[in-house]
Amino acid sequence: FKKKGLLSIVENREIAEHIFTMKLEGELVNELDQPGQFVHLRVGQGFDHLLRRPISICDVDHEKQQLTIIYRAEGAGTVAFSKQAVGEQVDVLGPLGQGFPIEERKAGEHVVLVGGGVGVPPLYYLSKRLKSKGVIVSHVLGFSHAGAVFLADEFAKLGDTYITTIDGSFGEQGLVTDVLDRWNITEWNALYSCGPLPMLRALSQRFEQHEAAYISLEERMGCGIGACFACVCHTPESDTSYKKICTHGPVFRVGEVIL
Ligand code: FES
Repeated sequence: FKKKGLLSIVENREIAEHIFTMKLEGELVNELDQPGQFVHLRVGQGFDHLLRRPISICDVDHEKQQLTIIYRAEGAGTVAFSKQAVGEQVDVLGPLGQGFPIEERKAGEHVVLVGGGVGVPPLYYLSKRLKSKGVIVSHVLGFSHAGAVFLADEFAKLGDTYITTIDGSFGEQGLVTDVLDRWNITEWNALYSCGPLPMLRALSQRFEQHEAAYISLEERMGCGIGACFACVCHTPESDTSYKKICTHGPVFRVGEVIL
């Protein structure tokens, strides 16, 4: 189920090096509800699907009909997108994909959210939704260095927040897994993560046995709408079985697809 609409830009600004937050307003926001899903945004002129980018949903405000996305401006399309002014309109298709399952989470449970770099944004709406259910949420977020860190204060308002940077210029030096290694994982009811592939691989190995550990592979998407096959992942069932990240995911249970 997806819809298309024009949303108006109400904010578009840089919040970390090459990382921008954009707030969009319009009726399509009524359709967005599941954390971990994404939208497909037109970032260039014309009708070629290559001018669209899949970008995860970072926050939703149904009352104001506003959607927040956080994206990295790195190619011609997203750099042009980062220069779009307040009041301009953006063509948005969505919601797309299967998000993080949260129906089974109950009040009083402990959940850990683990994010890396541009994989961090979808965890924000997830955390808000879990917290509103009474779930106790801890966050472990990894970035390359201090200049790349974003949303640290916002996450801290929702629960315990541990930040790591590779060079130690903000928070603790090291990787998100260094923080997790100090904890007793059997005390958690669920783990949800999103970030670069090496991080997700490391988490998958550690939490293979956990009954509710989920990863979002959104960084590996290409077209986002099932057309390019760049996102295909094999599944453990057989050599020929596969799933598409953009339609079957981006969220999978750990072990569901081969990384
Ligand atoms: Fe193109 Fe999935 S991202 S088919």
